[in-house]
Amino acid sequence: MPLQFRLIGTLLTFAALLAAQPMHAVGNIFRPLATPARLVSELSILTLVICAAVFLIVAALLAYAVIRFGYREGDSRSEPPQVYGSNQVEIAWTVVPILIVFVLAMSTARITSAVQDQRIPKDAVNVTVMAHQWWWEFRYPDLKIVTANELHVPLSSDAQRKLTYLTLKSADVAHGFWVPQLAGKTDVIPNRTNTMWIDPREAGVYLGNCSEYCGTQHAKMELRVIVDSPEDFDKWVAQQQQAAPAAESRENQGAFLASACIACHTVSGTPARGRSGPDLTHLMSRQTIASTEVPNNATTLRDWIKDPQRLKPGNKMPTIKLSDTQLDRMVAYLTTLH
Ligand code: CUA
Repeated sequence: MPLQFRLIGTLLTFAALLAAQPMHAVGNIFRPLATPARLVSELSILTLVICAAVFLIVAALLAYAVIRFGYREGDSRSEPPQVYGSNQVEIAWTVVPILIVFVLAMSTARITSAVQDQRIPKDAVNVTVMAHQWWWEFRYPDLKIVTANELHVPLSSDAQRKLTYLTLKSADVAHGFWVPQLAGKTDVIPNRTNTMWIDPREAGVYLGNCSEYCGTQHAKMELRVIVDSPEDFDKWVAQQQQAAPAAESRENQGAFLASACIACHTVSGTPARGRSGPDLTHLMSRQTIASTEVPNNATTLRDWIKDPQRLKPGNKMPTIKLSDTQLDRMVAYLTTLH
């Protein structure tokens, strides 16, 4: 097939994929869907409008001067009369820029304090975001839930305002938490706690990424914020609070518990209590694995465990030598963890 047809085919497949998922693409920075992002967006638009007006006025005056007073055939070659000093002009080009800077500084201060001084209501959902090389851990201390890479939060509306308050911490190096349509970037720094809040106004999936270079897999340290209607959020909470499903096959569970995986991963109610990797108690309730890199199903899970370095070179999940039977049993067990 000629290259251009293949390209068109790829583009069409991509468009179909995008249309199929209710996903808020990272791209549209002009469509903020939570208060902090909306405030930042309004400030940017104000700044852009003022700068555009200054640019247009300066460019128009310059163009006028060049066209109207440029050298023409037959003009005298001598220097034009030199004009010096005009109080009106001096005052105008001093006062106007000062006013512009004042307006921009005041608007920035107002927006910054509106975001930072937001009172956090008692019914806000508290989440501790723990950044790791190269994945995100989400802990809900009040709800006793631990999950990874997919942050579920409730929808906020005018009728029922619901804030999610994030406490950001790092387990290793500096990272940055950034979901463009919900709020500005917040650095996640070791030995320091930063905070932020969001109140998403539309249900769906929002894409985010680490915004601070943190090593090999930085570019793929992605996350999803899944905004649920209040009812769906309650359902999700109830489901996550349950203990891990009972093993359907002792043999399959045994394959997992006998592996080195349990040194880094937790499945509640089993001897697997590792903390350095994502909690797997309700693994199958997540849409994706490997920091949202691939969809979560038996095939991708098997490939991922078999050779984690192939999909994301340099990541910290070691390759463990496993026979095909062991691998099959392990995947059969993990796929029961709903
Ligand atoms: Cu974490 Cu970049």
